[in-house]
Amino acid sequence: MGKIIVTGASGHLGTSAIRHLLDLGVQASNIVGVVRDKAKGTALADLGIELRLGDYDNAASLPSAFEGGEKLLFVSASSMDNTLRVRQHSAVVEAARNAGIKHIAYTGFAFPEKMTIGLENVHMATEYMIRTTGIDYTFLRNGFYLELLVNEGTAAAVEAGTVISAAPTGKMNYVTRDNLARAAAVVLTGEGHANKIYELTAAEPFSYDEYAAVLAEVSGKLVVHKALPAPEAVSAMVSAGVPEGGAGFMVHVVDAAIENGEFGTPSNDLVNLIGDAYTPLKAAVEAAIKG
Ligand SMILES: NC(=O)c1ccc[n+]([C@@H]2O[C@H](COP(=O)([O-])OP(=O)(O)OC[C@H]3O[C@@H](n4cnc5c(N)ncnc54)[C@H](OP(=O)(O)O)[C@@H]3O)[C@@H](O)[C@H]2O)c1
Repeated sequence: MGKIIVTGASGHLGTSAIRHLLDLGVQASNIVGVVRDKAKGTALADLGIELRLGDYDNAASLPSAFEGGEKLLFVSASSMDNTLRVRQHSAVVEAARNAGIKHIAYTGFAFPEKMTIGLENVHMATEYMIRTTGIDYTFLRNGFYLELLVNEGTAAAVEAGTVISAAPTGKMNYVTRDNLARAAAVVLTGEGHANKIYELTAAEPFSYDEYAAVLAEVSGKLVVHKALPAPEAVSAMVSAGVPEGGAGFMVHVVDAAIENGEFGTPSNDLVNLIGDAYTPLKAAVEAAIKG
């Protein structure tokens, strides 16, 4: 078996995917982690993972990073500049083709054809680039990370007794990043995934009301959802410590799309891929609050 090359290996998803590859029985010697800075990959190096330097902004760095690879887990770039990301991604796809990679698993965005928030354009463009190569692909269309909601700030929301949003009724199909990493590892180690598209979202999307109810149930405290007009929701988040740019994006872009039904589409693809490893909302909240 040739090597599995994982880009973005220093990031949350890439590191987690490598850990799941090991868990699924892949030998460390068959995995390569591509990083921009080897100092960020020391935890992986300690696990016996070979680290190679590769920068999407430097096409000349990619041939040696991808050499000898059979499969590529291509983790999308993290720049906020979507036009730049298309150029970065095209460098990766071209290098994968030239290196003779046989299968590209690409981490995109769930239900991109239904979305209007802008990120979908990068991911659809990248999927089409990958199709131009004729290489087998699996499009891992990742849902939004549940960690956007359920994170180190969750305990504070419980203490305050309120979840603030600008989406009174819309639903979210968010899933944990670790579950998405598991799905990538399952695809890379299993059969039958060539030229498949997986919409990796929750099977049962939930509203902010339902999220607040889960917080209340798990914590045993009174927690309610307050839907505010967008400007007030931004102000409330900024007062709670969220940077203004981030609060604006979450309210004006994400909550608006949630209310528009764009994040409400369910899928069983993730559950079908990872089975019992799937983390439902309540379990994620329990882990965040109770540790
Ligand atoms: N589904 C969602 O809700 C969601 C949310 C946020 C992001 N995303 C997307 O999913 C990707 C993975 O998520 P994550 O949580 O693992 O993000 P992350 O922790 O920020 O990791 C991003 C990884 O991409 C690498 N990278 C960025 N630009 C690069 C470049 N020019 N050349 C080579 N590597 C580059 C980073 O390297 P360095 O360590 O050197 O920076 C890092 O390893 C993100 O990059 C983004 O495209 C999805």
